[in-house]
Amino acid sequence: MPRATFNFPAGFLWGTATAAHQVEGNNVNNDWWAWEQEAGHIHDGDLSGKACDWWGGRWREDFDRAQDGWQNTHRFSVEWSRIQPEPDRWDEAALDRYRQMLLGLRERNITAMVTLHHFTNPMWLAEIGGWENEAVVDLFAAYVGRTVEALKSHCQLWVTINEPNVYMNGAYLGDGFPPGKNDQKTALKVLLNMVKAHAAAYQVIHDLQPDAQVGVAHHWRGFQPANKGPLTGYLSKLHHKAFNDAFAHSLKTGKFDAVMLKADVPQAKDTQDFLGLNYYTRDLIKFDLRKSGALFSDRYYPKDALLSETGFLANDPHGFQEAIKWADKFGLPIYITENGCDDSQDDFRRRYLLEHLQAMWHMLTNNIPIKGYFYWTLVDNFEWERGWSQRFGLWGLDPQTQIRTKRKSVDLYAEICRTNAITSEAVEKFAPEVYDIIYLE
Ligand code: BGC
Repeated sequence: MPRATFNFPAGFLWGTATAAHQVEGNNVNNDWWAWEQEAGHIHDGDLSGKACDWWGGRWREDFDRAQDGWQNTHRFSVEWSRIQPEPDRWDEAALDRYRQMLLGLRERNITAMVTLHHFTNPMWLAEIGGWENEAVVDLFAAYVGRTVEALKSHCQLWVTINEPNVYMNGAYLGDGFPPGKNDQKTALKVLLNMVKAHAAAYQVIHDLQPDAQVGVAHHWRGFQPANKGPLTGYLSKLHHKAFNDAFAHSLKTGKFDAVMLKADVPQAKDTQDFLGLNYYTRDLIKFDLRKSGALFSDRYYPKDALLSETGFLANDPHGFQEAIKWADKFGLPIYITENGCDDSQDDFRRRYLLEHLQAMWHMLTNNIPIKGYFYWTLVDNFEWERGWSQRFGLWGLDPQTQIRTKRKSVDLYAEICRTNAITSEAVEKFAPEVYDIIYLE
């Protein structure tokens, strides 16, 4: 059998990513909690409920799992509705809990990356129009200031906003997030407000902590033309521009261009210290006259694609390389802030993980400055409108009993983190069925 080791650079960060609402439980004061209570919004009527019970203290045992698995970084998010439960009230006890979590990571030698907004909004903000209301820019900056002031001695890596484009699609283009609107004009206004809010937050953080590293977790999705037709080619570019480019480019150029809405945002120019990249999969796209509600676009996975358990995503490591090349155009250090798949059986996951890590390794050998990788996710968590139907965790979770179950990927990923490499020995030991895919016979 061929023997080979794919080594990663010294000091590479290896970890997992999570988000407050998906793991904490009892987040009763935000728009998602309210949304879950209304019938028809979440798959099978699932509720986030206690989630992974991190607010009840189980972050400790899960951080132990991360440490035992040789992870040296963890990305988690703080919940705005806990820190600022009412417009004129700040909850010091909530900030203290987050401080404890950061100390908990430090004790375990795990570098923290904190996300300040991951899809959820305080109820009071939702009631005044949420991200549609331009007042959100100053409100977000105030919340970020208060939070960073409280936590800055324990964290240097900040993600202002998670996946503005996914949030826009979910909440304002009918993809199942609150407030459940489907209106293009409002969607683009929301995206623009997020650019402004990010820019304001970037300044606030640097004023409080000059050596902070601040970025955004950008979700990049591929839209490969399914044929050579000019309309299909045009649509592929249009989706790419509106979904992948609009937000990210404005943070480099200070010009927002989402085709149907353009604006100057000079305050946003050069407001990223690193590029956070979330990659899951790529679509094929083609012109389809019947799909008027979806910009006349049909999107699907190739016939021969290997799909995840629920058919949610296709295993497409070449798409990951395309995403990394896109990220590299910004000339910044790159963190892979999310990458992962749904698979309760943990067969697909080991293949997906290894192929994506190998693809990432190739990009590193081209001198692309990738600094770390965060697998999504540590323990099964509440997957938004898909409820508990999808299992993205290295560890399985029964949300009723809170019992965690070790999946095979735990040991595979631990070995990669420990050795800072993909070794043929580890693949043979922990994922023998993937061996022939990773190593040529
Ligand atoms: C989100 C996560 C989510 C994951 C898998 C990403 O778009 O940032 O919150 O759980 O996808 O669905």
